Amino acid sequence: EIETEIHDFAFSFEGPFGSFDQMQLQRGLQVYTEICAACHGLELVAFRTLSDDGGPGLPEDQMRAYAEFYEVFDQSLFDGEGDFRLATPADKFPSSSLSNAPDLSLMAKARAGFHGPHGTGINQFVKGMGGAEYIASLLTGYHDEPECAPEDEPMDGYYNVAFAAGGFPDSCIDDHGHHMVPGSWISMAPPLYGDDVVYADGHSTDLEHVAEDVAAFLMWTAEPKMMARQQAGLTGFLFLVVLSVLLYLTNKRLWAPHK
Ligand code: HEM
Repeated sequence: EIETEIHDFAFSFEGPFGSFDQMQLQRGLQVYTEICAACHGLELVAFRTLSDDGGPGLPEDQMRAYAEFYEVFDQSLFDGEGDFRLATPADKFPSSSLSNAPDLSLMAKARAGFHGPHGTGINQFVKGMGGAEYIASLLTGYHDEPECAPEDEPMDGYYNVAFAAGGFPDSCIDDHGHHMVPGSWISMAPPLYGDDVVYADGHSTDLEHVAEDVAAFLMWTAEPKMMARQQAGLTGFLFLVVLSVLLYLTNKRLWAPHK
């Protein structure tokens, strides 16, 4: 089991009463657009959903204007020869422009922040799956290389304490085969440093806050119906509580004459 450092950020959408923070999703969209989109796509997300309830909630005209920042290749134009045209609300975000940068549409569900202990999943039960925590921790997880890193043959990539799947030098593995430092080397250069964007709402642009905002936005792209799902779950739960009480009383009533 490889150690990583994942911080338990307090996201607004956590817990049975949690919900996405519309302003945060708008800020996260801005960070994605200005920084991440240079390499990463969101090919499963349609522009029109930026206006959906429970999402960033862009007004219709802003969403249309946003879509028109993008061009898509439309095969139906020019008698099937195809041509580029401005994107419309029905189109989706482009796919990744850098071939080794993964699409981010579902990333917040594809990764988990919390594991174990010992494969039991108890941490996930208590803290949640932690997909958004993983992304925020990854973006804030770049550190100077540890002392054990080889100096003669430098590692490819950047040392990140939240990333498990990258390269790891033998010189940082002890006699028992254990990693002496958390994380591994990732090929993505640190995309955020703090003050990377200027927010219209005056929210803090500290590294942690910018990372948190884009992580929340990517949670929404991966699970846009989370609010509806949580509400249905809560309604169902309350319904079952009421039903249990009624059945208990009915049962008492029915058997009362026979006692
Ligand atoms: C990988 C997020 C900006 C290039 C990743 C991963 C995430 C991510 C979540 C997946 C890590 C994993 O596999 O567990 C972001 C966010 C960005 C951003 C939120 C903006 C704030 C960029 C930029 C570039 C880039 C600007 C290119 C200059 C890559 C590459 C990988 C990657 C090449 C693959 C890394 C590897 O597997 O070693 N990114 N990224 N990213 N990203 Fe980014």
